Amino acid sequence: MVLTGASRGIGHATVKLFSEAGWRIITCSRQPFDGELCPWDAGAIDHVQVDLGDHRAMPRALEDIKARLAGMPLHALINNAGFSPKNCEGGRLTSLTTPVDTWMNVFHVNFLAPILLARGLFEELKDGSGTVVNVTSIVGSRVHPFAGTAYATSKAALACLTREMAHDFAPHGIRVNAIAPGEIKTDILSPDAEALLAPVIPMRRIGTPDEVAKVIFFFMFRCGKLRDRRGNQDQWRTACLSGPPFKRRMKKPDVKRQSTGVPSI
Ligand SMILES: NC(=O)c1ccc[n+]([C@@H]2O[C@H](COP(=O)([O-])OP(=O)(O)OC[C@H]3O[C@@H](n4cnc5c(N)ncnc54)[C@H](OP(=O)(O)O)[C@@H]3O)[C@@H](O)[C@H]2O)c1
Repeated sequence: MVLTGASRGIGHATVKLFSEAGWRIITCSRQPFDGELCPWDAGAIDHVQVDLGDHRAMPRALEDIKARLAGMPLHALINNAGFSPKNCEGGRLTSLTTPVDTWMNVFHVNFLAPILLARGLFEELKDGSGTVVNVTSIVGSRVHPFAGTAYATSKAALACLTREMAHDFAPHGIRVNAIAPGEIKTDILSPDAEALLAPVIPMRRIGTPDEVAKVIFFFMFRCGKLRDRRGNQDQWRTACLSGPPFKRRMKKPDVKRQSTGVPSI
């Protein structure tokens, strides 16, 4: 799989989870690979250092990713990288105060990079009957006390783009979904966010990056409750949990001929 924003927060937790489940992950972020922080095999070889805010850097990044894939199919693209700029006091940048350059940069990272990557890796995703997960946010649909206007509108646009992509990619066997996390304990949050927002969250706490990673992992289930020809559901689910190496060895359930009806999730 290819995962952006792997160096911290939700992305880092996602690499850990998938790596433990046996997946090979090609990671992307502006930071170089840190072997102390990320002790997984092949991390240094499979890391692409790229500024997703610079669309001129994308062709080179795509070349790097394709070179690492070396003709292998791609099973998943997780568009997780994102940033949420604040004003000098750490406060919210509004529709009246957001500088144009900031607005452009936010849209490049949060909105444009996901589609440029998905288009650039389209053939590889098609070969892998792949899945794309775009990480949006609850702030795409409401005004938030800390997240600014550029961030919120970029996430709303990404949610809309996900719908368009799902429609356009589906005929090629590629599924496209979005997840919209609420408040998650990472560097992206303003310093006061946890103390102020936790009391109004029904669970009375903010979420953790590994909780989001598990939701992303769920999207790797191609089948949900899909059964194989003998009606054996668990065998295929267990295979999915183990990632692509097992997925490839398993015979894909024959949906058309199964007697148990239409697959459901
Ligand atoms: N935490 C929350 O409460 C929350 C809520 C809703 C949605 N989200 C979304 O979840 C995703 C992950 O955020 P997070 O909370 O884990 O934030 P984070 O801890 O700040 O991590 C952001 C990641 O994005 C990467 N990134 C930022 N700008 C980049 C650029 N120009 N080029 C390449 N990579 C870049 C960062 O890597 P480098 O710095 O190494 O480049 C980092 O790995 C984001 O899309 C965010 O909008 C978070």
